[in-house]
Amino acid sequence: MNDSYLNFVNSPFGGGLVRSLGLPKPEVLRRYRADRPEFDGLIAIGAGREPRLLDALASLVASVGMTSVAHDSAALWVALANRRGLMTGRFEPAEAGSPGKLAALLFDASGIDDSSQLEPLHGFFHDTLRSLGKCGRIVVLGRPPEACASPRQWTAQRALEGLVRSLGKEARRGITANLVYIGQGAEGGAEATLRFFLSPRSAYVSGQVVRIAANGTIPHNAPAFDWRQPLAARRALVTGAARGIGAAIASVLAAEGAQVIGLDVPSARDALAATMRQLNSSALTFDIAAPEAPAQIAAALDELGVDIVVHNAGITKDKTIAKMSDAAWQGVIDINLSAQERIDDALLAGGILRDGGRIVAVSSISGIAGNPGQTNYATSKAGVIGRIESMAPHLRARGITINAVAPGFIETQMTAMLPFAIREAGRRMNSMSQGGQPVDVAQTIAWLAHPGSAGVTGQVVRVCGQSLIGA
Ligand SMILES: NC(=O)c1ccc[n+]([C@@H]2O[C@H](COP(=O)([O-])OP(=O)(O)OC[C@H]3O[C@@H](n4cnc5c(N)ncnc54)[C@H](O)[C@@H]3O)[C@@H](O)[C@H]2O)c1
Repeated sequence: MNDSYLNFVNSPFGGGLVRSLGLPKPEVLRRYRADRPEFDGLIAIGAGREPRLLDALASLVASVGMTSVAHDSAALWVALANRRGLMTGRFEPAEAGSPGKLAALLFDASGIDDSSQLEPLHGFFHDTLRSLGKCGRIVVLGRPPEACASPRQWTAQRALEGLVRSLGKEARRGITANLVYIGQGAEGGAEATLRFFLSPRSAYVSGQVVRIAANGTIPHNAPAFDWRQPLAARRALVTGAARGIGAAIASVLAAEGAQVIGLDVPSARDALAATMRQLNSSALTFDIAAPEAPAQIAAALDELGVDIVVHNAGITKDKTIAKMSDAAWQGVIDINLSAQERIDDALLAGGILRDGGRIVAVSSISGIAGNPGQTNYATSKAGVIGRIESMAPHLRARGITINAVAPGFIETQMTAMLPFAIREAGRRMNSMSQGGQPVDVAQTIAWLAHPGSAGVTGQVVRVCGQSLIGA
């Protein structure tokens, strides 16, 4: 859908008018394009004392081919990094305020063991933030607080969340800020996640906290992957693929090399066939809530199996609870929640979802925050989060991850039907001052489906531009 305010403020006349009236000015977000370099420009690196994630950072910087400079105060970091030939120079505080000089700010906070050691975070971001360009990236690395050896260390690591969420709200200009907690022993499995948060693929993901665990098992027989086509030789089922977010998911997964099977209701057969034809993919038509659908889907996939299942199909039937019919309640719960459970049961029991597989379910910020008129929808979407949390430990032994994305306001036919005032509020009440695009959800799902994301499971990642709702 077209956001005419975003287009207006980014025109020469509109930009001036909006500035003079003091209105919010959403940035045109830089999104991934295959014909443009994904990683470009200079990264400033800072660190707290005794940073412990140097190898993960070294391999990231080398692998994405970006140039890095060390923040002046990170003397220890410079000494260590120089030994690895990583740094080309120092970022001097005197350079602060040269806008656009930096593409990303990375801070290794893993060595911070006590609240008295948090000051380097202030020093680093104080000196560098104003030099971060439009749509720049902030990534802070830490250790999962709950795995810390002492209450002091837990406290200091937990404090990072407040910093990162505030940076996301303060930075504006399309800049994202995210926190990645890397567990002991998971350092070698962090690259796919760090790439995602550095890349334009994460344009609408900000204020998020992601954990990478050490026990992300990649099965011995899993095919090796190539960063340009990481999903090659993988088969992916995407429900609700005829239009909107589902069509974008199918398209991104196919571009990443997956062989996609798109599923939608029989009445969407023509739209689904058209979308799948463009992607050279196949189509299945079922109503996922029909009692026989899970067995039929399992039978359709049985011969070749599947590696990735994306539960995207969903509906809304909004009414305040006093006015909500039984059918409106039950229809939403059946399609948005129970169908996912029954399909996964059928695919897991039959071994059709292969070891090392990925399940990604689409929740919603309504499921986190609740919403008036959406008791049925929010119940179903909160249930999706419960599914992720409860199933992740059971699937670990098979190397299968299960995660959810929780979109905020995304420009689709679903949100186009909202009344004007609610639509405008949804668009502006986030750090990006705009709605997301279906591709933003799709790129986040592609990261979670990535073979290198084996250590990311049981998590909910919001794709909401750091919405104020449920924050
Ligand atoms: N658009 C947003 O802002 C937003 C925000 C949060 C969450 N979501 C979630 O994202 C998902 C996709 O939303 P969208 O905006 O693209 O919606 P959409 O209505 O444009 O597309 C949903 C698709 O699911 C299909 N579908 C519905 N019921 C089905 C069934 N019983 N069996 C098979 N397919 C079925 C529809 O035919 C449609 O193609 C949904 O789960 C939705 O709840 C959307």
